[in-house]
Amino acid sequence: MSTPKDWPEPIIRVQSLSDSGLPEIPDRYVKPPTERPVTIPDSNDVNIPLIDLGGMLGDDNTRAATLDQISDACRNWGFFQVVNHGVSHDLMDNMREKWRQFFHSPMELKQSYANSPKTYEGYGSRLGVEKGAILDWSDYYFLHYLPSKLKDHNKWPVLPDSCREVIEEYADQLVKLSGRLMKILSINLGLGEDHLQNAFGGEDIGACLRVNFYPKCPQPDLTLGLSSHSDPGGMTLLLPDNNVVGLQVRRNDKWITVKPAPHAFIINIGDQIQVLSNAAYKSVEHRVIVNSAKERVSLAFFYNPKSDLLIEPVKELVTPEKPALYPPMTFDEYRLFIRLRGPRGKSQVESLKSPR
Ligand code: OGA
Ligand code: NI
Repeated sequence: MSTPKDWPEPIIRVQSLSDSGLPEIPDRYVKPPTERPVTIPDSNDVNIPLIDLGGMLGDDNTRAATLDQISDACRNWGFFQVVNHGVSHDLMDNMREKWRQFFHSPMELKQSYANSPKTYEGYGSRLGVEKGAILDWSDYYFLHYLPSKLKDHNKWPVLPDSCREVIEEYADQLVKLSGRLMKILSINLGLGEDHLQNAFGGEDIGACLRVNFYPKCPQPDLTLGLSSHSDPGGMTLLLPDNNVVGLQVRRNDKWITVKPAPHAFIINIGDQIQVLSNAAYKSVEHRVIVNSAKERVSLAFFYNPKSDLLIEPVKELVTPEKPALYPPMTFDEYRLFIRLRGPRGKSQVESLKSPR
């Protein structure tokens, strides 16, 4: 199985469709009725857990309570948001604005970074290479930060001004925050604090960024900005838009709209941590809805295992009562699935489960 060199059909930028002011979306974006977002008036004020990471720097009790909150969120939600995470708020705002500007730059500039399914790096408008697939209402930009051998500044936008410097600083800070979270997850799983990080490859982890741009949509009830999926990698740190909601998380067959706290990061468990934790922690399905009044920008930072390491349930978490649920697989091999077939709920990690 390998990825083809090019897309199966000409790429259409969703932003161009949106800007053209068409009153109806093309059939390519119309989801089957069961996948369409049903908008229930905002009756529930349920939200994913909000955690003050500053608690990790407090006294022993505060620290223990914070660890417990995160443990509960990882086991029961797969999603939580953190505040007091140590990343500069100005940097977060600046990074989001740079990318908003990028998506509002002339199409010729954006097209010069057009991506291919070979690496997905650059400016893209689809995930998956199946001809005739129903597409999502979004464009994106994908780039590598780690390992260093994959980082190529020429594949990062040169504009707006100082964009590359801001991306560097942002990614550097998010790698550090991810390292702190990995220690917390590791301790909460009853492992040594470096265990999870070492299982990811120690210093040799992967980190990449996907900036999502969801243009205004004339028929938001018929489509999705991003179809239901679980993140294939290790852990995701999402910086959501500051003006408009859109992310929905699946919980007991309901979709919960995430209400982000100011300057929070939304953290979620990816498939690789589900595998390593032998399903103690679950990667949870999520999707993005769009709307007719406002565009939305979000930045997903993916913290991943070294791509050629075999990832399998941690030995300490495998017992006669809880046998290993997943066979060993490298992340390189694993992510081919979403790269070829596009977002498909949790079908991949579920299909791996070895019945015993
Ligand atoms: C993703 C993702 C959510 C969002 O990029 O994997 O789930 O709110 N994004 O854009
Ligand atoms: Ni995701």
